Amino acid sequence: MSYSIVYSSRTGNTALLAQTIREALPAGDCLYFGAPDARALEADTIYVGFWTDNGTCDETISSFLQSVTGQKVFLFGTAGFGGAPAYFAQILQRVQQNLKDANVVGSYMCQGKMPEAVRSRYLAMEESPRRTAMLENFEQALSHPDAQDLARLKEAVAR
Ligand SMILES: Cc1cc2nc3c(=O)[nH]c(=O)nc-3n(C[C@H](O)[C@H](O)[C@H](O)COP(=O)(O)O)c2cc1C
Repeated sequence: MSYSIVYSSRTGNTALLAQTIREALPAGDCLYFGAPDARALEADTIYVGFWTDNGTCDETISSFLQSVTGQKVFLFGTAGFGGAPAYFAQILQRVQQNLKDANVVGSYMCQGKMPEAVRSRYLAMEESPRRTAMLENFEQALSHPDAQDLARLKEAVAR
């Protein structure tokens, strides 16, 4: 069974997940690994990775998903806010809406660290419970994706 791994990653979190999937699958069956590209469409299964951009995937991934014509798709992604599984489910649902023939065979999401500029932006805000929660989330995100996130990803891919 051939596969492709297509992903978008600005700061490396999603790239780490993509690399982990690559290492978990047989190298000989890999047709394509990299940024969204029509060549990836020739595989039986496409692993599509995204970073969360305002609650969904970025434009390069949404247009790629719109070009999928029935291949099996495994969605994986990272998001800065990681506290609630329902939040990940909501993002995955939005990302999946880009598929015309939804044939999603699996999905996985975990938290991903954010740049220092984000913390500075939070610090500049007036003190409030929301600001405190965002700063706590920022701290929590700093270690992710961690070894456990990657182990869980491998399990989801093997399922
Ligand atoms: C412009 C921008 C928008 C973002 N929007 C969200 C968001 O809506 N929800 C969220 O949880 N994280 C959001 N993030 C955080 C990133 O999705 C998160 O840090 C992700 O792990 C980055 O992945 P990458 O390292 O592969 O680029 C945003 C980051 C940027 C730069």
